Amino acid sequence: MSLLPYGTLRPRLPNRLWGPDMKAAVIYYSFEGNCTFVARQIAKQIKADIVQIEITDNKKRTGLAKYLWGGKQVILKIIPEIKPVNFNAEAYDLIIFGSPVWAGSPAPAIKTFLSQTKISGKKIALFLCHGGGAGRAMNKLKEMLTGNEFVSEIDFKYPIRNAESVIQKTEEWVKTL
Ligand SMILES: Cc1cc2nc3c(=O)[nH]c(=O)nc-3n(C[C@H](O)[C@H](O)[C@H](O)COP(=O)(O)O)c2cc1C
Repeated sequence: MSLLPYGTLRPRLPNRLWGPDMKAAVIYYSFEGNCTFVARQIAKQIKADIVQIEITDNKKRTGLAKYLWGGKQVILKIIPEIKPVNFNAEAYDLIIFGSPVWAGSPAPAIKTFLSQTKISGKKIALFLCHGGGAGRAMNKLKEMLTGNEFVSEIDFKYPIRNAESVIQKTEEWVKTL
């Protein structure tokens, strides 16, 4: 654990993408809270704004029904309706994008968001949360964000179950941004 608070007292490395004079945002979708956990850690550590993408369908789904519902969306390329998102990419020097992995892809809500909000020419860092492996999901997420510069990427296995190590991992990761 660092004794220095993040922000002005922390010595700045050259070419950092965030700091007192830089603005960063964490924007993410989370169905079951794992990406929320990671997004909050990162936002707290680098003093970033945080924006959650939420679907309008708030029916609770668990077990097999959850996988069938989500998997079907991915396979049939369904674009779920999302709540309005207040996000202006131009306001940020760095955008950190996060999603769970669903059937080897980013969750479909990300596609909905990106179909409504143009993001290009930005520095982007990516994180994925999964239950086994990110597979091709990272590449798919990059394809959805073509036209941006990818500065870093990271993934987490069931972050809520591994909270302590995830906090440490995010602390190390943000130092590289
Ligand atoms: C519909 C659905 C499909 C999933 N597919 C995968 C998968 O292909 N690979 C994987 O490793 N985990 C998969 N998972 C597990 C989630 O990626 C994992 O639990 C993640 O941490 C969830 O993030 P969240 O809590 O922010 O929603 C899936 C979960 C759901 C609900």
